[in-house]
Amino acid sequence: MSFYITRQRLISHVRDVIAGSLSRKKIDTPEFTRTYCNATLPPRKPKESKSPITWRSLSVTAVIGGGLLAFMLYVKREKEIAIQKERKRQLGKAAIGGHFELVDHNNELRKSEDFIGQWLLIYFGFTHCPDICPDELEKMAAVVKKLDLEENVPKVQPLFITVDPLRDTPQIVQKYVQEFSSRILGLTGTTEQVEKACKAYRVYFSAGPRDEEKDYIVDHTIIMYLVNPDGEFVDYFGQNRQVEEIVTSIRVNMAKWDQLHSSWF
Ligand code: NI
Repeated sequence: MSFYITRQRLISHVRDVIAGSLSRKKIDTPEFTRTYCNATLPPRKPKESKSPITWRSLSVTAVIGGGLLAFMLYVKREKEIAIQKERKRQLGKAAIGGHFELVDHNNELRKSEDFIGQWLLIYFGFTHCPDICPDELEKMAAVVKKLDLEENVPKVQPLFITVDPLRDTPQIVQKYVQEFSSRILGLTGTTEQVEKACKAYRVYFSAGPRDEEKDYIVDHTIIMYLVNPDGEFVDYFGQNRQVEEIVTSIRVNMAKWDQLHSSWF
């Protein structure tokens, strides 16, 4: 466009110069004047003012700017829709998870709110469990170890919550979880506190009959729960899930969460 403008101006300038020199030299010749006026040069257009150029470029800017703004609004809207969809999906899961108040293996009172801002991997079990709980805790330790080694992955806090508060004191729980990983935090509490936490996570547990040595096993749900930094339950992993699968799934959930919480727009 600027080339066109310059060219127009140049032509007009040349025209002025020619007209000027001709008029100075030959304007007194009537024949020439007639020739000049009638044929040699076309009648001059009124000189264009500079404003149309400005208006034109302004309108182009407005169109491009408007388009960009519309695009940004579109992206923003799409993101809002995605967040709403995710919220709806979360609402369906809202039945699982929520508030708990327990005692950790250092004898400290721990509320679910204390863990806001961290990813949690929660497993419910009991220290006397003959084989399933040890397997699951070994798996949990392996998952956390793998995630700890990966770059740009937030730390996941693994929690072990006992379903056998009568036998699992903080000291016993501490000794037990440390056999698997120093990263796992063990939680216990009063029967009421444990029951509430289990209820929140829809964990079933039922103590079996005691044998002659007063030993008993506790039948319980075998599930690992993933909780996001907002304290919301987002995913679960059953007994059949392998370490690699769980790691991948956690990373996918983290990426999804990051995307929804990014400050872009
Ligand atoms: Ni168990």
